[in-house]
Amino acid sequence: MIKPKVFVTRIIPEKGIKEVMDSCETEIWPDEFPPSREILLKKVRGVKGILCLLTDKIDGPIMDAAGPDLKVISNYAVGFDNIDIKDATDRGILVGNTPGVLTETTADLSFALLMAAARRIGEGIDHIRAGNWKTFKPMELLGRDVHHATLGIIGMGRIGIEVARRAKGFDMEILYYDPAVGSGKEQNIGAGKCATINELLQRSDFISLHVPLTAETYHMINASAFERMKETAVLINTSRGPVVDSDALYDALYHGKISCAALDVTDPEPIPNDHKLMGLSNCLIVPHMGSATIGTRGRMALMAVNNLLAGVKGESPEHLVNPEALDHPRWKG
Ligand code: DGY
Repeated sequence: MIKPKVFVTRIIPEKGIKEVMDSCETEIWPDEFPPSREILLKKVRGVKGILCLLTDKIDGPIMDAAGPDLKVISNYAVGFDNIDIKDATDRGILVGNTPGVLTETTADLSFALLMAAARRIGEGIDHIRAGNWKTFKPMELLGRDVHHATLGIIGMGRIGIEVARRAKGFDMEILYYDPAVGSGKEQNIGAGKCATINELLQRSDFISLHVPLTAETYHMINASAFERMKETAVLINTSRGPVVDSDALYDALYHGKISCAALDVTDPEPIPNDHKLMGLSNCLIVPHMGSATIGTRGRMALMAVNNLLAGVKGESPEHLVNPEALDHPRWKG
């Protein structure tokens, strides 16, 4: 029996990969860096499935280079802004993602960043490493209280709700802004809905971002948003870098329009060492590690593999981003 061809764009945790290798003619890109576009265009030729990462831009030309057999693109991430969903849907290609399994892990990191920024943990570590801890100083490295402060969550989906649950343990007042929310879950944790984003920006001590990157959320946090924040505000971003306008963020941090920021995601990403944000002591940056725990990355691998295998078998992946693609003639009958 001829095995379906699949291309996996990077080595991912082992869980599940054996099953792919047993049932498919599998090529795994072995490098630690993503394949270039040129390489991707070649490697996808004739494949039925692609398992890719958020660092791979998968659009119409890549899909067309794969050819008419391509049935499924399985993203090893919950966010899928690296894939042109319309291009996939128009071609009847199913797109899978990994929701749920990384919710709490990402919420943990959001809260860790919130606490680290509030209590200046990064600066404290740098202080000691530079040999500056000579004595206890009453006025040194003073941070901000987390307990009883107001947390504003923008995007009250799965991760936003988990961040709110963590904040409850610190007796924080929780506000949220999300025009799309309607699950009612946010009511159970006593989060207060803000009618406008400006209300949230004005009232919050900490602002945490949990929106997907779309045309609507691109640069949602821009110069005018920073103007509305408190001078003492702390911004946390574990969503996608371009949700924040990096130049406006630099300006706000440099001129003291807000107190500090803690970022898991940046624009550009990865952020170059000589980027102006890297020179600010009030900007804490970690390298997109929201889902980076052994357990979660393993579960993501299994989920991405299952989505891939379902698609190549001609079945609908359990976590399907574009169910409309199933209306395409190639899935009918
Ligand atoms: C995602 O899944 O979208 C995260 O950014 C990486 O795990």
